Amino acid sequence: MGDQHPTLRVDEIADATLTSIREQRRDRSLRTVDDSIAPIPRINGHDAQLFCGSNYLDLAHHPEVVEAAARGARDWGCASGGSRLINGNLRCHEQLEEELADYLGTEAALVFGPGYMANVGIVPALAEAGDLILSDALSHASLIDGCQLSKASVRVFPHSDVDALQSLLEQERTRFRRVLLAVDGLYSMDGDIAPLTEFVELAERYDLMLLVDDTHATGTIGEDGRGSASRCGVAPQRIDMQLGSLAKALGSYGSFVAGTRAMRNLLINTCRSFIFSCALPPPQVEAARAALRVMRREPQRHQRLQHNGGYLRDALRAQHIDTGPSSTHVVPVVVGSNLATMNLCENLLQQGFFTQGIRYPSVPDGTARLRLTVTSSHQEKEIDSLVGAITQTMHRE
Ligand SMILES: Cc1ncc(COP(=O)(O)O)c(C=O)c1O
Repeated sequence: MGDQHPTLRVDEIADATLTSIREQRRDRSLRTVDDSIAPIPRINGHDAQLFCGSNYLDLAHHPEVVEAAARGARDWGCASGGSRLINGNLRCHEQLEEELADYLGTEAALVFGPGYMANVGIVPALAEAGDLILSDALSHASLIDGCQLSKASVRVFPHSDVDALQSLLEQERTRFRRVLLAVDGLYSMDGDIAPLTEFVELAERYDLMLLVDDTHATGTIGEDGRGSASRCGVAPQRIDMQLGSLAKALGSYGSFVAGTRAMRNLLINTCRSFIFSCALPPPQVEAARAALRVMRREPQRHQRLQHNGGYLRDALRAQHIDTGPSSTHVVPVVVGSNLATMNLCENLLQQGFFTQGIRYPSVPDGTARLRLTVTSSHQEKEIDSLVGAITQTMHRE
């Protein structure tokens, strides 16, 4: 059998694949953080100021949040012990869902594992073969993968282009019974916000289901951090499903989808990544509940975050460094080539700044960049130092 079917072993496949990835300068490796992620992680024995994290409101280390996680473990154990539909639906999951719905002003919410799993489950739960999905060209990978799993027809429209979307709808809408419009609320690699007012109007006019992935907007933008809908002045009830994160600003892990009770029941019954997966562990649930309380009590956190985002953008622009369409706490510095981006990143680390280079396929080919993020606790002088280091390094190279 060995002679007839020469086998390719994993190591051989790895060798061939990694050689090709290396040739394109897209090889990735894990950077080890030796102690806590904030505010100043230790890497390779050196302290580095963090400018690439998603713990935007600095809640992951907040004493109330840490204590709630510990209490969650003591009261409930370290695992939920099963999927929500078997034995893992704990009172604390439902309490968190009620608190999230109350916070966002929706009828209901449903807590999931990571946002990636939520998207790859929610999209196929709403659209199947014979349906249509309209997806933004810069949609997150998890939405793209959800589209593929759904077996629906998919049309991609240019990033945030309302006119192009409307033309697509004029051509395609009547051919399909169910149509899902899936967009990010805040684009995680460019820091811009979707034109939700226009998208909601199109969704209502053309009778579309609307899914907004607000992973990076939960707790960070809009009134009291209520996300991109709030920032755009759109009532939450006008969006069928808002995907929020427990893992970024809320300093815990997991995600949730907010919308109507009917939507929640639909997902409980049809969303495979909800049905066939263990429920979120209690320490993470209790940490998210505590973080939500702190966040609502301390609106200065998201205000400070947006102040810092603006300060970073202005400082970079003053040095003629392009920050693209960013209008939030996510600020890209588009370099272009993979090699130059990773060199810049390495150089900054040597100077005590932890940033990350982002390359294809996370962003379109040829637009490799530093994806800078600020948190609510960064000080202006720290941002000044980062901008000084970026400016000097870019001009030197
Ligand atoms: C826009 C967007 N959606 C979904 C996800 C996946 O979320 P999670 O990290 O909880 O899996 C991410 C990851 O950062 C993201 O940026």
